[in-house]
Amino acid sequence: MSNAKLKVVLTIKLPDAVETRMRELFNTTLWFDLSPMPRDKLLAAAQDTDVLVTSLNDRLDADFFDAAPERLKMIANFGVGYDHIDIVKAAEKGIIVTNTPGVLTEDTAEMTMGLILAVSRRFVEGAELVQKGEFSVWSPTFMLGRRIYGKRLGIVGMGRIGQALARRARAFGMSVHYHNRKPVSPRISDELGATYWDDLDQMLSRMDVVSINCPGGPGTHHLLSGERLSKLQPHAILVNTARGQIVDEKTLAAMLREKRIAGVGLDVYEREPAINPELIGLPNAILLPHMASSTIEARQDMGDRVILNVKTFQDGHRPPDRVIPAML
Ligand code: 8YV
Repeated sequence: MSNAKLKVVLTIKLPDAVETRMRELFNTTLWFDLSPMPRDKLLAAAQDTDVLVTSLNDRLDADFFDAAPERLKMIANFGVGYDHIDIVKAAEKGIIVTNTPGVLTEDTAEMTMGLILAVSRRFVEGAELVQKGEFSVWSPTFMLGRRIYGKRLGIVGMGRIGQALARRARAFGMSVHYHNRKPVSPRISDELGATYWDDLDQMLSRMDVVSINCPGGPGTHHLLSGERLSKLQPHAILVNTARGQIVDEKTLAAMLREKRIAGVGLDVYEREPAINPELIGLPNAILLPHMASSTIEARQDMGDRVILNVKTFQDGHRPPDRVIPAML
């Protein structure tokens, strides 16, 4: 790669400071609309650029890569998850894919812990009641939730975010259990006092709270199938800040309605941004609009990671956050 500035096209609006720096460093075309770039424009943009800066709104599937010209050298994804990118196809075409790991870990773990508290202690129901002017009498049996201190948390996926959640849960007096493809190192499991379950069904049937923190993609699609969900105890709550496709959402909604599970806190959905109407209006469901990593700090840090990856590539080196098929 020469020292010439790369052409970089953004498919999404990023924070102003990130965009300005990108304009300084690269031959950058910005996307000003708050809605993501429509597919026809995405396909057209890919025909005439060196780098595309994408987000989870863009479907970079086999068709996309089949149509990509030689010129397209890099997809710099703004986000850690890459389930929307066919990274096998990208590798076949020699197109580098990067993501933004590490910089939204604490933000996502904060929100997950917040959802565990909010669902268990009925924050949203209580707040709505006050807003509606319905707080007229207090009684000892009013708005009863469940204590989380002393309860068991089962984390599905003990990567960076799972571990950051485990640290927080320990501080709230929960005992930490987890299911993962393999156990974490003894150093981490000792620090977290975490119990490993190789059998997910066994773990699910014993937990008070379950949090999903594994990556999305074909390997985890409906990992929490209807049958698996039915293992949960009726007093259990489920929180998902990972990817909607990991859970059989239809069965989950039915279980909530039939009170076969106590509550859910969801930040992600199977057909996002569409929400299964059967989930709407249930008092025991807190539904958020995919905002677990939505902090000013995370968005700036994610932008910095994108810039680092593209700049490193422009300078003729291998970008640090490359995503390769062996990671699947
Ligand atoms: C981001 C996420 O907001 O990073 C991810 O994978 O799911 C989100 O928390 C999103 O990716 C921004 O594109």
